[in-house]
Amino acid sequence: MTKRTFHVWRGDGGAGSLAAYEVEVNEGEVVLDVLHRLQATQAPDLAVRWNCKAGKCGSCSMEINGRPRLACMARMSTFGPDESVTVTPMRTFPVIRDLVCDVSYNYQKAREIPSFTPPPGSAPGDFRMRQADVQRMQEFRKCIECFLCQNVCHVIRDHEENKESFSGPRFLMRVAELEMHPEDTADRRAIAQDEFGLGYCNITKCCTEVCPEHIRITDNALIPLKERVADRKYDPLVWLGSKIGLR
Ligand code: SF4
Ligand code: F3S
Ligand code: FES
Repeated sequence: MTKRTFHVWRGDGGAGSLAAYEVEVNEGEVVLDVLHRLQATQAPDLAVRWNCKAGKCGSCSMEINGRPRLACMARMSTFGPDESVTVTPMRTFPVIRDLVCDVSYNYQKAREIPSFTPPPGSAPGDFRMRQADVQRMQEFRKCIECFLCQNVCHVIRDHEENKESFSGPRFLMRVAELEMHPEDTADRRAIAQDEFGLGYCNITKCCTEVCPEHIRITDNALIPLKERVADRKYDPLVWLGSKIGLR
């Protein structure tokens, strides 16, 4: 057992500050264990969102020493012996209290995406998919909706005004997944650009770096979606078709 200094953001609404705590840390623990010990010993009213403690529910997203991470996957052994640990809420979303954010922006963006649209009359089991198509989409299906990628993307992290027109990497990845589905009949290329703000993404790849599921969001979803949008825009036949109402 050792003692460690934790600086934890405490407050609600727009107001708050870092509070310092000396707290016990045991071998094998993660940051979430230590936050639970703080709740049990010194700060019973500390608000922390969590559920599975196994990196699978996506609830315990926060910023640990400035890096967006899951608290239940952040091992205490990865910090230096004298390093203090600073824990703050995700910066891109409004704080409800302490480490808990209002992430409803993400659910609103999810609702805006038109759902899977198979050909009319097609019933489950009517079509077969190539294994390559299945595998491509399965990578995106690993998403646990922790919203760390949404939190880190500078397009909305530094620009509140972009939230209206930009869906963020998680939901552009969902658009890409549906666009790549061989049985989806909706043309998602126009809405990706015009309604979900794909053009705002300048491929900084921060979203990919923080994804706890190691999904290659930028390389496998966003860049291919950008290529499809560019094909649609610059292919003269597609352009002509759109002008005379074929697409
Ligand atoms: Fe989290 Fe990765 Fe899903 Fe983004 S894509 S919400 S970082 S699991
Ligand atoms: Fe943002 Fe990821 Fe693009 S961080 S700018 S969505 S590559
Ligand atoms: Fe479920 Fe951390 S508690 S991902």
